[in-house]
Amino acid sequence: MRHEALTRWTAENSAELYGIRNWGQGYFDISPGGEVMVRPNGPKSPTEVSLLHLIDECHGRGLNMPVLIRFSNILASRIKEINESFRWAIFDAAYQGQYRGVFPIKVNQQDAVVGDITEYGREYHHGIEAGSKAELIAALALMKDPEAFVICNGYKDEEFIDMALQALKMGTRTVLVIEMPSELELVLSRAERLGIRPVLGVRAKLSSRAGGHWDSSGGDRSKFGLDASQIIEMVDQLRQRDRLDCLQMLHYHLGSQVSDIRRVRTALREACRFYVELVREGAGMGILNMGGGLAVDYDGSHTNFACSTNYSTAEYASTVVETIMNTLDECGVPHPTLITESGRATVAHHSVLIFNILDVRRFEPLSIPEKLDVNAHEMLQNLMEVCHSLSPRNMQEAYHDAVFYRDELRTLFLHGTISLRERALAETIFWHIVCQMSEMTRGRKYIPDELEGLDSAIADVYYGNFSVFQSIPDFWAVDQLFPIMPIHRLNQRPTRKGVLADITCDSDGKIDKFIDLHDIKHVLPLHEWDGREYYMGIFLTGAYQETIGDMHNLLGNTNVLHVRIDDKGRIESAKQITGDRVDEILKYMEYDPESMVATIKSRADKAYKHGFITAKERNAFLKAYKTGIRGYTYFEQ
Ligand SMILES: Cc1ncc(COP(=O)(O)O)c(C=O)c1O
Repeated sequence: MRHEALTRWTAENSAELYGIRNWGQGYFDISPGGEVMVRPNGPKSPTEVSLLHLIDECHGRGLNMPVLIRFSNILASRIKEINESFRWAIFDAAYQGQYRGVFPIKVNQQDAVVGDITEYGREYHHGIEAGSKAELIAALALMKDPEAFVICNGYKDEEFIDMALQALKMGTRTVLVIEMPSELELVLSRAERLGIRPVLGVRAKLSSRAGGHWDSSGGDRSKFGLDASQIIEMVDQLRQRDRLDCLQMLHYHLGSQVSDIRRVRTALREACRFYVELVREGAGMGILNMGGGLAVDYDGSHTNFACSTNYSTAEYASTVVETIMNTLDECGVPHPTLITESGRATVAHHSVLIFNILDVRRFEPLSIPEKLDVNAHEMLQNLMEVCHSLSPRNMQEAYHDAVFYRDELRTLFLHGTISLRERALAETIFWHIVCQMSEMTRGRKYIPDELEGLDSAIADVYYGNFSVFQSIPDFWAVDQLFPIMPIHRLNQRPTRKGVLADITCDSDGKIDKFIDLHDIKHVLPLHEWDGREYYMGIFLTGAYQETIGDMHNLLGNTNVLHVRIDDKGRIESAKQITGDRVDEILKYMEYDPESMVATIKSRADKAYKHGFITAKERNAFLKAYKTGIRGYTYFEQ
């Protein structure tokens, strides 16, 4: 302890503690002054900007916390990295086909985000994947590049199909992917009626699996796709209708976040076999679409753990290109245009949720007496004895004894044998024991399973101005981990250990699982809260979270600052999107805010008339109600 206090804590220590250089992919680091810096153009560029500086900017613009900060430059950098990785892999292997990326709009549907992607993707002819009619409507308006693909997946009705076909006629490269056998007839008849030869794809149900959280997206029982016999039926039908040349693309999607490169390769080999057979059947072919799955290293461990990945984008690209070549060359089949629908890997890094800490509940057991009263209950004496005799060598046994005596004392309390004061003393002694044990296990390589959770049992609770359900729904829904850390004071030693609680009144609205290089941490090292602003960042939130987030407790979309940073680290352009107001959320839930204000006004008038409140109180109440209903749904200070 003494040694720890004497050594100076630097930003370098924080960088190691929070693993920012492992998961940050060069987009995030810490300045010597202890602030999280964003390198929006990636690791090779010297440009950087402090998140704290951007918070000042938010305040200046009247954007209260929580704020989602999106970096346009990071989107540009991700698009570049994915496309350049494939460009290099294709060049290196002398692959004869092209690469065409498409962005699955469902991963982040915000106008500014998809707009940036189409703009930065233009030089690579990066397209869009749409999985519904509404997404296709958005995609068609945004996609202006005639060489980029618009891939149409998902359930399709007549309207969806007609729109895709007419767009094709107008020069957009729409591909209608047959996901279910029943879709084929509808697509062919609509195409005939409109006098168009459609460009068709077929989604194959592979037997290969992704592993991890999204394993069920693939495999024999997956929701979408045609199995081998259905594909053969489709081929026969197309041949009969003289439309076999229209079938140009094989599509599959193994699942999101495929963290193990071996699974990528295995599935691709299987898909290549489907592709070869379709060529042999006489289908037009020419395009192989691998769907999504390119994983993001959320915990920075570079492993095949569900929240990590054991490969880089460059390795992914070269593995894909080589696997296709190896399989197709053996059969003398020409190399197809290669499409990936990488969503997560394109957008995860570009947004950071910033929120402030509102309060802290410190875990601090009261002090215990040196000695107990001679008349204290025997069980209390025993518990105290455990406390006095605790040592690193008898820790596990002491833990069992402490739990036993504490439970016995609780039972004695239930039976009225000991008083509330004695029960309180028992609990204080118990927590003292737990604190000492936690101290003793610190830095140990092996900790018995039952002592693993001690840290979280005695953690402080830091209350944050955000909603888990709105801003990181996947943390709650599928145990997805995100890097979380303070964004300043990082040249100061974090002396507390805490968990984070959001402002919903749901007991699931807390974060008690944090990334770690080995396994998962249950507490986060944090700084002593002194009542002044303490800001936290949740990183890599750009994929899926904004779209899937819900309005639990009527907490709506957060404020957003979408920025482009210039080479000097200054804001070049910024778009601010004000978060949902209370009346907007209420309207969404079918309330009529205007009539609510009228009701409250007449109630206040009545209360004034009956003399329950003064005129001043009436006015103050009405003002507060009206301000509240037009205000931000989060804490405003
Ligand atoms: C058909 C399809 N393509 C692409 C994706 C995007 O996957 P990812 O974000 O893992 O790249 C998904 C997502 O599940 C999908 O269903």
